[in-house]
Amino acid sequence: MRLREGAVLRILVAGGAGYIGSHTCKALARAGYTPVVVDDLTTGNEWAVRWGALVRGNIGDRDLMVRVLRTEKIDAVIHFAASAYVGESMAQPQNYFRNNVVNSLSLLDSMLEADVKNLVFSSTCATYGDPQHLPLEESHPQCPTNPYGESKLFIEKAMRWYGEAYGLRWVALRYFNAAGADVETEIGESHDPEPHIIPLVMQAARGERPEVQIFGTDYATPDGTAIRDYIHVEDLAQAHILAIQHLANGAESGAFNLGTGRGYSVREIIAAVEKHSGKKVPSRDKARRPGDPRLLVAGAERAHQILGWKPVHDLDSIISTAWAWEGRKLKHSPSIPKGEEQ
Ligand SMILES: NC(=O)c1ccc[n+]([C@@H]2O[C@H](COP(=O)([O-])OP(=O)(O)OC[C@H]3O[C@@H](n4cnc5c(N)ncnc54)[C@H](O)[C@@H]3O)[C@@H](O)[C@H]2O)c1
Repeated sequence: MRLREGAVLRILVAGGAGYIGSHTCKALARAGYTPVVVDDLTTGNEWAVRWGALVRGNIGDRDLMVRVLRTEKIDAVIHFAASAYVGESMAQPQNYFRNNVVNSLSLLDSMLEADVKNLVFSSTCATYGDPQHLPLEESHPQCPTNPYGESKLFIEKAMRWYGEAYGLRWVALRYFNAAGADVETEIGESHDPEPHIIPLVMQAARGERPEVQIFGTDYATPDGTAIRDYIHVEDLAQAHILAIQHLANGAESGAFNLGTGRGYSVREIIAAVEKHSGKKVPSRDKARRPGDPRLLVAGAERAHQILGWKPVHDLDSIISTAWAWEGRKLKHSPSIPKGEEQ
């Protein structure tokens, strides 16, 4: 990375109008970096791009990406842009391989053409598949059980080979389940339709949807529902700053898990929302969804040791910030254009 004395690093944030990308842009701007977002707004929101320019376009558009990388004098790329739903990927693998593999490879090639050789990539715990032991450490075999995880694993492998052949320097951040919202309630999760459990539970608590569906109640877990490791989106954003610093310091490429090491079941999430809100959450038990593992919990010691990352938010903080954001969305926030509220 060109580390000019006193220079502000300019970061292209692919997918920066999305949930995790927008929180990362805020953290980047706070830390003194200049984010430049490229997003096609398929699942992202224009109102969420508040801390840097927005270039509306597809990361697979080679001419556009090379032009932006050059004219914006980009030092590094953070790549969030993807299709990101396990269930959808089981039904539509074509779309997942096209967007997550073909378009990501095109982005990598645009970077090489523009001589930008530092990349932080949004990977996922879904690259591991069914755990053979827990917690899941980075050395755990990667055997995805769905096309989404497979598509992310392919790009991890491509980055490794591009590193050896072309000098690409990369950090793959394998997130567990992103959750929570900006503590200042300026931005938060807003997907339509919403696939993630915490906003769904909250919308059921608020009476915005009739019930929340629990997929799988016969797993080998204490209450029969699937267990996930929920990590606050601000902790994730902070990890991206540390990953950029890691690359800027000339440190080695590598993959890091981002999670808390503590898992919560779906029923525990529902109970936590009921406690925080004082409202009953109507729920319905459903069959397991194909491709969903029973239990995913991170071993995140490596990110702590090497990046100096440690999550500061717990489940209470996740629930309280997400609840505040759901309330703000309901009040037709001026930052959210009409028609975007859920
Ligand atoms: N949310 C999670 O719990 C989670 C967990 C693990 C990994 N991830 C990964 O983190 C990243 C961000 O996830 P998110 O929850 O913020 O998703 P999101 O859907 O909110 O954000 C993705 C953004 O990328 C944009 N995008 C998608 N394809 C694009 C393309 N070809 N060109 C330009 N823009 C494109 C979308 O419009 C959206 O703004 C994804 O890569 C996802 O796979 C998310």
